[in-house]
Amino acid sequence: RVNIKRISTGVRSLDELLNGGVETGAVTEVAGEFGAGKTQFCHQLAVMVQLPEDRGGLNAKAIYIDTENTFRPERITQMARARGLDPDQALKNIYYARAYSSDHQMILVEQARRIIKQDNVKLLVVDSIVAHFRAEFPGRENLAERQQKLNKHIADLLKIADAYDVAVVVTNQVMAQPDVFFGNPLRPAGGNVLAHGATYRIWLRKSKENIRIAKIFDSPYHPEREATFKITEEGLTD
Ligand code: GTP
Ligand code: MG
Repeated sequence: RVNIKRISTGVRSLDELLNGGVETGAVTEVAGEFGAGKTQFCHQLAVMVQLPEDRGGLNAKAIYIDTENTFRPERITQMARARGLDPDQALKNIYYARAYSSDHQMILVEQARRIIKQDNVKLLVVDSIVAHFRAEFPGRENLAERQQKLNKHIADLLKIADAYDVAVVVTNQVMAQPDVFFGNPLRPAGGNVLAHGATYRIWLRKSKENIRIAKIFDSPYHPEREATFKITEEGLTD
Protein backbone atom coordinates (compact mmCIF):
# COMPACT_ATOMS: atom_id res chain seq x y z
CA ARG A 1 0.00 0.00 0.00
CA VAL A 2 1.26 3.42 -0.89
CA ASN A 3 -0.31 5.80 1.58
CA ILE A 4 -0.05 4.16 4.99
CA LYS A 5 -0.73 6.55 7.84
CA ARG A 6 -0.13 5.84 11.48
CA ILE A 7 -1.70 6.87 14.75
CA SER A 8 0.92 7.33 17.44
CA THR A 9 0.19 5.42 20.65
CA GLY A 10 1.64 8.33 22.62
CA VAL A 11 4.29 5.97 23.96
CA ARG A 12 7.73 6.05 22.33
CA SER A 13 8.58 2.41 23.00
CA LEU A 14 5.22 1.21 21.64
CA ASP A 15 5.52 3.40 18.56
CA GLU A 16 8.96 1.95 17.89
CA LEU A 17 7.55 -1.55 18.23
CA LEU A 18 4.81 -0.65 15.72
CA ASN A 19 7.09 1.15 13.26
CA GLY A 20 5.49 4.48 14.16
CA GLY A 21 2.05 3.60 15.47
CA VAL A 22 -1.18 1.86 14.62
CA GLU A 23 -1.73 1.65 10.85
CA THR A 24 -4.69 2.78 8.82
CA GLY A 25 -5.99 0.24 6.35
CA ALA A 26 -5.23 -2.57 8.77
CA VAL A 27 -6.84 -4.46 11.63
CA THR A 28 -4.70 -4.46 14.76
CA GLU A 29 -5.56 -6.95 17.46
CA VAL A 30 -4.62 -6.24 21.07
CA ALA A 31 -4.64 -9.43 23.12
CA GLY A 32 -3.92 -9.95 26.75
CA GLU A 33 -5.17 -11.10 30.09
CA PHE A 34 -7.49 -9.26 32.47
CA GLY A 35 -6.06 -5.89 33.45
CA ALA A 36 -3.27 -6.01 30.86
CA GLY A 37 -4.31 -2.61 29.50
CA LYS A 38 -6.25 -3.45 26.33
CA THR A 39 -9.09 -1.06 27.13
CA GLN A 40 -6.69 1.65 28.23
CA PHE A 41 -4.82 1.25 24.94
CA CYS A 42 -8.09 1.76 23.03
CA HIS A 43 -9.01 4.82 25.07
CA GLN A 44 -5.61 6.34 24.43
CA LEU A 45 -5.84 5.79 20.65
CA ALA A 46 -9.30 7.38 20.59
CA VAL A 47 -7.62 10.51 21.96
CA MET A 48 -4.37 10.27 19.97
CA VAL A 49 -6.16 10.05 16.60
CA GLN A 50 -7.57 13.53 17.27
CA LEU A 51 -4.16 15.21 17.53
CA PRO A 52 -2.70 17.05 14.55
CA GLU A 53 -0.40 15.03 12.31
CA ASP A 54 2.74 16.73 13.60
CA ARG A 55 1.88 15.39 17.05
CA GLY A 56 1.22 11.84 15.97
CA GLY A 57 -2.51 12.02 15.28
CA LEU A 58 -4.57 12.18 12.11
CA ASN A 59 -6.68 15.19 13.07
CA ALA A 60 -9.69 12.87 12.97
CA LYS A 61 -12.48 11.29 14.98
CA ALA A 62 -12.98 7.80 16.43
CA ILE A 63 -15.79 5.28 16.67
CA TYR A 64 -15.81 3.14 19.81
CA ILE A 65 -17.89 -0.05 19.93
CA ASP A 66 -17.97 -1.21 23.53
CA THR A 67 -19.16 -4.76 24.20
CA GLU A 68 -18.27 -5.01 27.90
CA ASN A 69 -19.44 -1.64 29.19
CA THR A 70 -15.92 -0.59 30.11
CA PHE A 71 -15.73 2.71 28.22
CA ARG A 72 -15.01 5.54 30.69
CA PRO A 73 -15.70 9.09 29.46
CA GLU A 74 -13.82 10.54 32.44
CA ARG A 75 -10.74 8.55 31.43
CA ILE A 76 -10.95 10.08 27.94
CA THR A 77 -11.14 13.59 29.40
CA GLN A 78 -8.15 12.82 31.62
CA MET A 79 -6.08 11.60 28.68
CA ALA A 80 -7.22 14.51 26.49
CA ARG A 81 -6.22 17.06 29.12
CA ALA A 82 -2.80 15.42 29.41
CA ARG A 83 -2.35 15.95 25.65
CA GLY A 84 -3.53 19.57 25.70
CA LEU A 85 -6.86 18.83 24.01
CA ASP A 86 -10.17 20.34 25.08
CA PRO A 87 -11.69 17.45 27.09
CA ASP A 88 -15.31 18.09 26.07
CA GLN A 89 -14.40 18.36 22.42
CA ALA A 90 -12.31 15.20 22.68
CA LEU A 91 -15.37 13.31 23.95
CA LYS A 92 -17.57 14.76 21.21
CA ASN A 93 -15.09 13.46 18.64
CA ILE A 94 -15.75 9.88 19.72
CA TYR A 95 -18.87 8.17 18.38
CA TYR A 96 -19.72 5.74 21.14
CA ALA A 97 -21.97 2.68 20.99
CA ARG A 98 -22.58 -0.15 23.41
CA ALA A 99 -23.09 -3.55 21.73
CA TYR A 100 -25.57 -5.79 23.54
CA SER A 101 -25.08 -9.00 21.55
CA SER A 102 -22.93 -10.37 18.74
CA ASP A 103 -25.68 -9.60 16.22
CA HIS A 104 -25.95 -6.06 17.54
CA GLN A 105 -22.17 -5.73 17.37
CA MET A 106 -22.26 -6.65 13.67
CA ILE A 107 -25.09 -4.17 13.00
CA LEU A 108 -23.06 -1.45 14.73
CA VAL A 109 -20.13 -2.15 12.42
CA GLU A 110 -22.43 -1.57 9.44
CA GLN A 111 -23.60 1.69 11.03
CA ALA A 112 -19.98 2.61 11.65
CA ARG A 113 -19.29 2.13 7.95
CA ARG A 114 -22.00 4.65 7.11
CA ILE A 115 -20.62 7.19 9.57
CA ILE A 116 -17.11 6.70 8.20
CA LYS A 117 -18.40 7.42 4.69
CA GLN A 118 -19.70 10.79 5.85
CA ASP A 119 -17.33 11.98 8.53
CA ASN A 120 -13.62 12.27 9.19
CA VAL A 121 -13.17 9.05 11.18
CA LYS A 122 -9.76 7.35 11.16
CA LEU A 123 -10.10 4.92 14.07
CA LEU A 124 -12.66 2.19 14.69
CA VAL A 125 -12.36 0.35 18.01
CA VAL A 126 -14.14 -2.89 18.94
CA ASP A 127 -13.48 -3.66 22.63
CA SER A 128 -13.82 -6.66 22.98
CA ILE A 129 -14.33 -8.40 19.66
CA VAL A 130 -14.95 -11.87 21.08
CA ALA A 131 -16.79 -11.49 24.40
CA HIS A 132 -20.35 -11.77 23.05
CA PHE A 133 -19.41 -14.53 20.61
CA ARG A 134 -17.89 -16.60 23.39
CA ALA A 135 -20.86 -16.06 25.70
CA GLU A 136 -23.47 -16.85 23.05
CA PHE A 137 -21.72 -19.84 21.48
CA PRO A 138 -20.14 -21.75 24.35
CA GLY A 139 -18.43 -25.09 24.09
CA ARG A 140 -17.15 -27.21 21.26
CA GLU A 141 -20.63 -27.97 19.90
CA ASN A 142 -21.07 -24.28 18.96
CA LEU A 143 -17.52 -23.67 17.83
CA ALA A 144 -18.17 -23.96 14.08
CA GLU A 145 -21.07 -21.51 14.15
CA ARG A 146 -19.19 -19.09 16.37
CA GLN A 147 -16.11 -19.10 14.16
CA GLN A 148 -18.24 -18.66 11.06
CA LYS A 149 -19.93 -15.57 12.49
CA LEU A 150 -16.67 -14.21 13.82
CA ASN A 151 -15.12 -14.75 10.39
CA LYS A 152 -17.80 -12.62 8.77
CA HIS A 153 -17.40 -9.94 11.46
CA ILE A 154 -13.64 -9.71 10.93
CA ALA A 155 -14.06 -9.69 7.15
CA ASP A 156 -16.46 -6.73 7.54
CA LEU A 157 -13.88 -4.91 9.65
CA LEU A 158 -11.07 -5.61 7.19
CA LYS A 159 -13.22 -4.27 4.34
CA ILE A 160 -13.86 -1.04 6.22
CA ALA A 161 -10.18 -0.63 7.09
CA ASP A 162 -9.23 -1.14 3.47
CA ALA A 163 -12.03 0.80 1.76
CA TYR A 164 -11.85 3.93 3.91
CA ASP A 165 -8.24 3.82 5.08
CA VAL A 166 -9.27 3.58 8.71
CA ALA A 167 -7.28 2.02 11.53
CA VAL A 168 -9.34 -0.79 13.08
CA VAL A 169 -8.31 -1.86 16.58
CA VAL A 170 -9.91 -4.86 18.27
CA THR A 171 -9.23 -6.39 21.65
CA ASN A 172 -9.15 -10.09 22.38
CA GLN A 173 -9.41 -11.87 25.67
CA VAL A 174 -7.05 -14.67 26.52
CA MET A 175 -7.95 -18.04 27.93
CA ALA A 176 -5.93 -20.41 30.01
CA GLN A 177 -4.46 -23.29 28.02
CA PRO A 178 -2.54 -26.28 29.19
CA ASP A 179 0.15 -25.68 26.58
CA VAL A 180 2.52 -22.79 26.50
CA PHE A 181 2.03 -19.91 24.07
CA PHE A 182 5.00 -17.60 23.68
CA GLY A 183 6.20 -18.60 27.11
CA ASN A 184 2.81 -17.71 28.54
CA PRO A 185 0.25 -20.32 29.62
CA LEU A 186 -2.46 -18.18 28.04
CA ARG A 187 -3.44 -17.78 24.43
CA PRO A 188 -5.76 -15.46 22.54
CA ALA A 189 -9.36 -16.52 22.15
CA GLY A 190 -10.88 -16.39 18.69
CA GLY A 191 -8.36 -18.93 17.52
CA ASN A 192 -7.45 -19.12 13.88
CA VAL A 193 -10.09 -16.67 12.75
CA LEU A 194 -8.21 -13.83 14.37
CA ALA A 195 -4.86 -15.33 13.49
CA HIS A 196 -5.75 -15.03 9.81
CA GLY A 197 -7.94 -11.94 10.07
CA ALA A 198 -5.90 -9.44 12.03
CA THR A 199 -3.14 -7.67 10.14
CA TYR A 200 -1.10 -7.05 13.30
CA ARG A 201 -1.33 -8.73 16.67
CA ILE A 202 -0.08 -7.11 19.86
CA TRP A 203 0.28 -9.10 23.04
CA LEU A 204 0.07 -7.15 26.32
CA ARG A 205 1.02 -8.58 29.67
CA LYS A 206 1.26 -7.31 33.21
CA SER A 207 4.53 -6.71 34.94
CA LYS A 208 4.80 -5.32 38.45
CA GLU A 209 2.48 -2.52 39.56
CA ASN A 210 1.56 -0.22 36.67
CA ILE A 211 4.20 -1.55 34.27
CA ARG A 212 3.07 -3.40 31.15
CA ILE A 213 4.98 -5.23 28.42
CA ALA A 214 3.95 -5.39 24.77
CA LYS A 215 5.18 -7.56 21.96
CA ILE A 216 4.11 -8.25 18.40
CA PHE A 217 3.31 -11.83 17.58
CA ASP A 218 2.56 -13.68 14.33
CA SER A 219 4.15 -10.95 12.20
CA PRO A 220 6.78 -11.51 9.53
CA TYR A 221 7.32 -7.74 9.35
CA HIS A 222 8.12 -7.08 12.98
CA PRO A 223 11.03 -8.33 15.06
CA GLU A 224 10.34 -10.35 18.17
CA ARG A 225 10.95 -7.33 20.34
CA GLU A 226 9.36 -6.17 23.55
CA ALA A 227 8.31 -2.70 24.64
CA THR A 228 7.74 -1.60 28.21
CA PHE A 229 5.28 1.12 29.18
CA LYS A 230 3.30 2.36 32.17
CA ILE A 231 -0.34 3.12 32.84
CA THR A 232 -0.59 6.37 34.82
CA GLU A 233 -3.10 9.15 35.43
CA GLU A 234 -2.10 10.64 32.07
CA GLY A 235 -2.76 7.37 30.28
CA LEU A 236 -0.18 5.12 28.64
CA THR A 237 3.31 6.59 29.03
CA ASP A 238 6.96 5.62 28.53
P1 GTP B 1 -10.03 -6.80 30.63
O1 GTP B 1 -10.92 -6.01 29.74
O2 GTP B 1 -10.61 -7.03 31.97
O3 GTP B 1 -9.60 -8.10 29.99
O4 GTP B 1 -8.69 -5.96 30.92
P2 GTP B 1 -7.96 -4.87 30.01
O5 GTP B 1 -6.79 -5.50 29.36
O6 GTP B 1 -8.93 -4.15 29.15
O7 GTP B 1 -7.39 -3.91 31.12
P3 GTP B 1 -7.61 -2.34 31.25
O8 GTP B 1 -7.23 -1.62 30.03
O9 GTP B 1 -8.97 -2.11 31.79
O10 GTP B 1 -6.48 -1.99 32.31
C1 GTP B 1 -6.77 -1.94 33.62
C2 GTP B 1 -5.57 -1.33 34.32
O11 GTP B 1 -5.33 0.01 33.86
C3 GTP B 1 -5.88 -1.21 35.77
O12 GTP B 1 -5.42 -2.36 36.41
C4 GTP B 1 -5.12 0.00 36.18
O13 GTP B 1 -3.81 -0.39 36.50
C5 GTP B 1 -5.02 0.85 34.93
N1 GTP B 1 -5.96 1.98 34.94
C6 GTP B 1 -7.23 1.99 34.49
N2 GTP B 1 -7.80 3.18 34.69
C7 GTP B 1 -6.88 3.95 35.28
C8 GTP B 1 -6.85 5.30 35.74
O14 GTP B 1 -7.83 6.03 35.63
N3 GTP B 1 -5.69 5.73 36.29
C9 GTP B 1 -4.60 4.95 36.40
N4 GTP B 1 -3.48 5.45 36.96
N5 GTP B 1 -4.58 3.67 35.98
C10 GTP B 1 -5.70 3.18 35.42
MG1 MG C 1 -10.95 -4.30 28.81
